[in-house]
Amino acid sequence: MSLKGKVAVVTGGSRGIGRAVCLELARQGADIVLCYAGSEDAAQETAQACEALGVRAMARVCNVADSVQVKALMDEAMAAFGRIDILVNNAGITRDGLAMTMKDEAFDAVIDTNLRGTFLCMRAVSRIMMRQKYGRIINLSSVVGLHGNAGQVNYAASKAGVIGMTKSMAKELATRGVTVNAVAPGFIETDMTAAMADAAKAATLSAIPMGRLGAAEDVARAVAFLAGDEAAYITGQVLAVDGGMSM
Ligand code: NAI
Repeated sequence: MSLKGKVAVVTGGSRGIGRAVCLELARQGADIVLCYAGSEDAAQETAQACEALGVRAMARVCNVADSVQVKALMDEAMAAFGRIDILVNNAGITRDGLAMTMKDEAFDAVIDTNLRGTFLCMRAVSRIMMRQKYGRIINLSSVVGLHGNAGQVNYAASKAGVIGMTKSMAKELATRGVTVNAVAPGFIETDMTAAMADAAKAATLSAIPMGRLGAAEDVARAVAFLAGDEAAYITGQVLAVDGGMSM
């Protein structure tokens, strides 16, 4: 229970990696505020699963790309639990396609959620964490942000941008007891990757030295490590959780 007494905000916590992060942080004792874009039933189910682990939890709808909704989410978390110790910027989307034919909307939607959303949430908690002189921010990047991927120019730009923002925020907050790190998952089995064609999945699998896809829990444990006291002297880093894919 190394996170007992801590309060964590997890964006996109209703399913996939975000859900696994909520459960892992709750297992370690943190109270959970999770937000979701659409699936209320799944979000409430995640909150109940956290409560079953003995912590307080609440689920709220919030579009992370909307600064008014983000501020309202953080205000509500503060009103309910009095502090925000951990922020996990997990909400993310894909709108894949070759750059040549990619619509403006597909580019903008991915940048808005993945990049702008991460910025808005970090900005909204930075004053709170500076005042507390304590905070842990963990941003979900991707191996695609490190190496690029054909058909994902929008997603790669957003995830590379997340790394640049992570390092910049880490420098801005370093003297205030706030660490900012990124996790770069490889190929993790969730709804997001379920949409991939079988041939693309097989090609990706062959590029993973450990020979298996990742589970959401693999990523959640890395996030929980960066959220804990053991990682107090680690900031501005990108931790790949990818079975060796990005070596
Ligand atoms: P997912 O599609 O299963 O879940 C995404 C979550 O984000 C959902 O809860 C959804 O409601 C929420 N969300 C989407 N747009 C939102 C918005 N505008 N505001 C608030 N919430 C929103 O995705 P998955 O696979 O669990 O991915 C989670 C994160 O990990 C994403 O940032 C993704 O880019 C990243 N990632 C995933 C990898 C994978 O292989 N699954 C690999 C590398 C990175």
